[in-house]
Amino acid sequence: MFPERVVSGMRPTGALHLGHYHGALKNWVRLQSEYPCLFFVADWHALTTHYDSPEVIGNNIWEMVIDWLAAGIDPQQSTLFIQSRVPEHAELHLLLSMSTPLGWLERVPTYKDQQEKLSDHDLATYGFLGYPLLQAADILMYRAAFVPVGEDQVPHIELTREIARRFNHLFGREPGFEDKAREAVKRLGSKRARMYQQLRTRFQEQGDDEALQQAHELLDQSPNLSLGDRERLFGWLEGSRKIILAEPQALLTEASRMPGIDGQKMSKSYGNSIGMREDPESVTRKIRTMPTDPARVRRTDPGDPGRCPVWQLHVVYSNDETRDWVRAGCTTAGIGCLECKQPVIDAVLKEQQGFLERAQPYVDDPSLLRNIIADGCDRARKLAQETMRDVREVMGLSHD
Ligand code: TRP
Ligand code: SF4
Repeated sequence: MFPERVVSGMRPTGALHLGHYHGALKNWVRLQSEYPCLFFVADWHALTTHYDSPEVIGNNIWEMVIDWLAAGIDPQQSTLFIQSRVPEHAELHLLLSMSTPLGWLERVPTYKDQQEKLSDHDLATYGFLGYPLLQAADILMYRAAFVPVGEDQVPHIELTREIARRFNHLFGREPGFEDKAREAVKRLGSKRARMYQQLRTRFQEQGDDEALQQAHELLDQSPNLSLGDRERLFGWLEGSRKIILAEPQALLTEASRMPGIDGQKMSKSYGNSIGMREDPESVTRKIRTMPTDPARVRRTDPGDPGRCPVWQLHVVYSNDETRDWVRAGCTTAGIGCLECKQPVIDAVLKEQQGFLERAQPYVDDPSLLRNIIADGCDRARKLAQETMRDVREVMGLSHD
């Protein structure tokens, strides 16, 4: 019913590292050529946990956007914006809050988890409880079909689906809905109308999901429908409500296999990360001092790549040939660990070279960056205003 948009956001919590690149960002870069994508800086989300250090957020925003561009996010293809510059997100959050049961928010697993993990922040706040609802507003605003996120965020997408369903149920009622839906069917033209009716019956009588799918395709291919008729016909397939907010699906981002320099998951808070744009000496030093298989005490002791964090980097960065060389050399003590690390150092530096080159124009001229974001905010706002028009109308708030 709506174009298959992709929406995702990232909190501006610091310079991005290779884990972000090999996890989320590479995925975003791939998606931007397949779907219309909106990527935004979730600065309000950052405030829910870091309200006591707002200066950190301000400084991080622009560096993070540069990192996105360095990764290959293309502002011609993707819409890049800052959440707080599209205040409609706050309005939708507020309006959704009216009908969101408290229990739904209290039950979100990240609520308790994060309160325990970030025990140095007081997170017994109204804003923090509302975090997943704000996220739902971010997504529903653009009627996103897909939301690329890591595993920890899947419950938030599930909640978003429930919020959309509840909203449509409460506010998708309209007087004379059935009659209006029947009129809309006629406007499909007789052949399509007949198909629509058959598919609807098949879905409603037999719960045939394929029929529902086909009916959705049929509507997608009916270009002359008004927005209102479209909402009615989608809604009538499943029940007696209009569909105003679309239910999104999570696109699970495969966990980055990028280990930190201590072999644990790369994370800024573990102090084991390599920045996307870090100076070459520091990168080299970090990799050269990485721990290896503890069994290789002396150069002459054979090792096992399976027990070595450096091997994980070869998995990400090396081709088969290099990996064969590592396996053979390590298990026979034919190569030393520093020798083994060199191809990884070379590959990381080469990758960073690409990041640095793509970032340079924006570092030299920050106004380029400001323009990309200003443009993205405009585009996002237009879409947001369309949604808000519908939302206000069904909630009894269009007082003209
Ligand atoms: N909560 C997400 C995270 O911590 C960030 C985020 C905010 C987000 N709004 C979003 C992600 C909307 C996807 C869609 O990673
Ligand atoms: Fe690790 Fe390579 Fe040393 Fe083997 S040779 S222990 S894989 S660094």
